[in-house]
Amino acid sequence: MTEYTRERLLIIDFGSQVTQLIARRLRELRVYCEIHPYQNVTDTFLASFKPQAVIFSGGPNTVTNPSHPRPPKEIYEINVPILGICYGQQVMIQDLGGKIDGGKISGGGGTAEFGRALLQQRGDLDLLAGWFDEGPEQVWMSHGDHVAELAPGFDVFAASKNAPFAVVANTNRKFFAIQFHPEVYHTPKGKELFTNFIRISGFSQTWSMDNFHTKALDHIREQVGKKKVICGLSGGVDSSVAAVLIHKAIGDQLTCIFVDHGLLRANEARDVVEMFRDHYNIPLIHTDESELFLSTLENQSDPETKRKIIGRLFVDVFQRYASEIPDAAFLAQGTLYPDIIESISHSGGPSETIKSHHNVGGLPKEMGLRLLEPLRELFKDEVRELGRELGLPKPFIARHPFPGPGLAIRVPGKITRTKIEILRAADAIFIDQITKYDLYDKIWQAFVVILPVRTVGVMGDGRTYDFACSLRAVTSVDGMTADYFPFTHEFLSETSTRIINEVQGINRVTYDITSKPPSTIEWE
Ligand code: XMP
Repeated sequence: MTEYTRERLLIIDFGSQVTQLIARRLRELRVYCEIHPYQNVTDTFLASFKPQAVIFSGGPNTVTNPSHPRPPKEIYEINVPILGICYGQQVMIQDLGGKIDGGKISGGGGTAEFGRALLQQRGDLDLLAGWFDEGPEQVWMSHGDHVAELAPGFDVFAASKNAPFAVVANTNRKFFAIQFHPEVYHTPKGKELFTNFIRISGFSQTWSMDNFHTKALDHIREQVGKKKVICGLSGGVDSSVAAVLIHKAIGDQLTCIFVDHGLLRANEARDVVEMFRDHYNIPLIHTDESELFLSTLENQSDPETKRKIIGRLFVDVFQRYASEIPDAAFLAQGTLYPDIIESISHSGGPSETIKSHHNVGGLPKEMGLRLLEPLRELFKDEVRELGRELGLPKPFIARHPFPGPGLAIRVPGKITRTKIEILRAADAIFIDQITKYDLYDKIWQAFVVILPVRTVGVMGDGRTYDFACSLRAVTSVDGMTADYFPFTHEFLSETSTRIINEVQGINRVTYDITSKPPSTIEWE
């Protein structure tokens, strides 16, 4: 058995929006971990998973509700270190005999706390090694409920103004329960806490993308057997990495299907075909379905309807080609972890659906294909690292993300073919400008949105009545949060002039200066 499978940490998800950040912190520390929703963690599951340590995530529920989410009670008997975070603290303390009070918003001695808080040391604890060297430490709190009475065997090691039991532990059993969130950036020493926890749990910290790569190849071979796989390529880094990885695992059992839905960026179809057919020799079906997509989308204006139509048509097209490939049993997709967390609420409601990413949510049963999603645990930057491991050409790895629904979700309001053409032309100029100014790699994603308004302008001696557009360019680490990119005035005015002069149909250019949150990166 490889290092990768032997040492694993189990994260039990109770529905926090930031559970995936725990996984990310652990991978940064070279520890292999998996997140599983609490409902799936049964004693049978535990026996086969054999975690070396366990983390309970936060969550929006209250343990004061009799039907609150719980881990299986065997978890406390398997003799491994456990770290409970926020809701995870409360559930652990209550399960082991302590008492939790429901949240109060004001007052002293154990009330709700949201945002930054200062943690004071109350005792020496290995989990907090490296903390408090310069006095109280900043942590991020987000809780209503709180511990009111400790479970037997637990002591207090740190407290904040409103959380007297902010860090408690039963050191003999290596059970740690903390009220704050060490996984978020606003807890500056969070990484040290995780480092300490994995040291206490005896991890050798040898996991790497190379392990992931090897394991993923084995896993794909095991899952697929002698069956055939079809993979939807979008031209983006995710599906490209997924396809190359799968091809490496099973060779010509994979056929890629690149659906040109008429909503691609300039030259995208050509680049994708060249890379897959010419560079990798991967069997590729390139089908021009623009008529099907554009005629169905024509005049649609609701964002979710657009996404759903595109998702459905994709499935139809795949199904059509899949039926021509004997033994096709799997549909491969480059789904990433953030796609999943934003699209579904996998523990029954807590993390809300923000957008229906077309590539998440399963396939119609009658399609008869199973999903193969080898990247579903990874974040974008980790996928790029894997892409480098696999030797993908730099332009593909460095490419800005491009959403499956393509330009359709950059046309707020009614979709028309004319708007798509105008948008594509303006987008190409914006990207050209960014490349010319050597900014492409400094920006997470940049694109143009065509606005559903026409405005009056004057060009030459004539009046124009054309569309306005907005430029969007953001920096981000993983697409979950983002800031707008601070272009210079020179860049903005040159880009605006070029778009207006070179693209017929646009007479006004604006720049979107909102971050995510409160906005999302795409406009729809
Ligand atoms: P938002 O707009 O949600 O986008 O802030 C976050 C990142 O996800 C991309 N995105 C998608 N990618 N299918 C995809 O493959 C989709 O349906 C989809 N919607 C958004 C978006 O471009 C950004 O990089």
